[in-house]
Amino acid sequence: MERYIVEGLKRLNGEMEVHGAKNAALPILAASLLCDSCELHNCPELSDIGAARNILEHLGCTTKKEGDTLIITGGEGGCTIPDQLMREMRSSIVFLGAILAKYRQASLTFPGGCELGPRPIDLHIGALKRLGVTFQEEGGSLRCTVKGKLHGASISLPFPSVGATENIMLAASLAQGHTVIRNAAREPEIADLAAFLNSAGAKISTAADGTIHIDGVKKLGSAVHTVIPDRIVGITYLCCGAITQGDLLVRKVNPEHFSAVLPIFEEMGCQLRCGVDAVHIRSSQRLRAVKSIATMPYPGFPTDALAPIMALTAVAEGTSVFTENIFQNRYKQAWELERMGADIKTEGRVAIVRGVPALHSAQVYCTDLRGGASLVIAALAAQGQTVIHNVKHIVRGYQDLDYALNRVGASIARE
Ligand code: UD1
Repeated sequence: MERYIVEGLKRLNGEMEVHGAKNAALPILAASLLCDSCELHNCPELSDIGAARNILEHLGCTTKKEGDTLIITGGEGGCTIPDQLMREMRSSIVFLGAILAKYRQASLTFPGGCELGPRPIDLHIGALKRLGVTFQEEGGSLRCTVKGKLHGASISLPFPSVGATENIMLAASLAQGHTVIRNAAREPEIADLAAFLNSAGAKISTAADGTIHIDGVKKLGSAVHTVIPDRIVGITYLCCGAITQGDLLVRKVNPEHFSAVLPIFEEMGCQLRCGVDAVHIRSSQRLRAVKSIATMPYPGFPTDALAPIMALTAVAEGTSVFTENIFQNRYKQAWELERMGADIKTEGRVAIVRGVPALHSAQVYCTDLRGGASLVIAALAAQGQTVIHNVKHIVRGYQDLDYALNRVGASIARE
């Protein structure tokens, strides 16, 4: 089991570059199943991307990595995803819409619950039914069939689920007729998926009010696309600068994607300067608490940024209050932060963090991807050597986090 050993209290100084977004690349990889070939630039090297490549190869495609470019060539390999590949990555469900669009049938197992709580797919199923898909459940497996062709439909999502929106977009791209999705997710990764599909010949328009229109086309061709920067990795790097009273220029980001988070850094006392594709953060004093943070679908405060910011509040002066509105179980990192001396009380969706003057080293375990990142951030500000176990969660979403932080002055050994 890999672990990080972090020597804390080093001030970070310099420039960091953010890699491509995992959550944009994953649905695009599913979409590539529908293309003759595609060339995906700025594709990050992450274990979740490896899991998506395994699924694509199982489905008959070939994938080849050249630097940060992934080249995918289409092929025929059936419409089934075996259970072990479904379990490798919880978001494997996003392949469902693409397989249905290509083969008009699919067979896979449920993605199951995850570290963040139950992960139901009722919204995916309800929407795909409206496009003409029939579902049959047999012993944990899902058999999906389409009688005739997929057809366009008017779909109103009860909640703007990111994965359900992506599955509808994938299936509706090759459906007969027009599809409209109301109350669709508005995350930047949705617009990136639309841009990718459109460059391969799809007809999708996304509106700022969360309405998506899709005119089905007969087939998709080839695509060349550059994945958007990973906004959560960008926020994580900013947190590393903030907690070490550092001076960091975080490059290759889209600051517009941070609009709900940048005011939080300012409220905590950091100085920020935004350029077109970079954010400069400087923090020169003890951080101040934030009054309240409530996670919401985009453009609200992202649930994936909660844990990194919670690490900052652990050492900020005053009391901060968090309300998690998206997932049921997003506070597991709080117990690990407490081992480092943090004072955090959680009750249901709410967490109250009373900032302590300093954290100390401890042996801690990553419980999930963003929770793991929060432990790294906290360890950067802890006195002594913190040992972070179970970093397999971190490498799902952060490419060479230890290396990137060491380049700007951190001391992290990976064993
Ligand atoms: C995506 C992101 C994840 C992020 C989340 C919310 C990827 C690969 N992952 O996950 O990092 O934290 O968006 O921004 O892009 N729900 C249902 N029924 C459904 C679908 C969802 O009840 O059919 C619930 C989920 O349990 C969860 C909430 O809706 O509580 C949000 O889920 P969703 O927006 O679908 O997130 P994901 O696509 O799984």
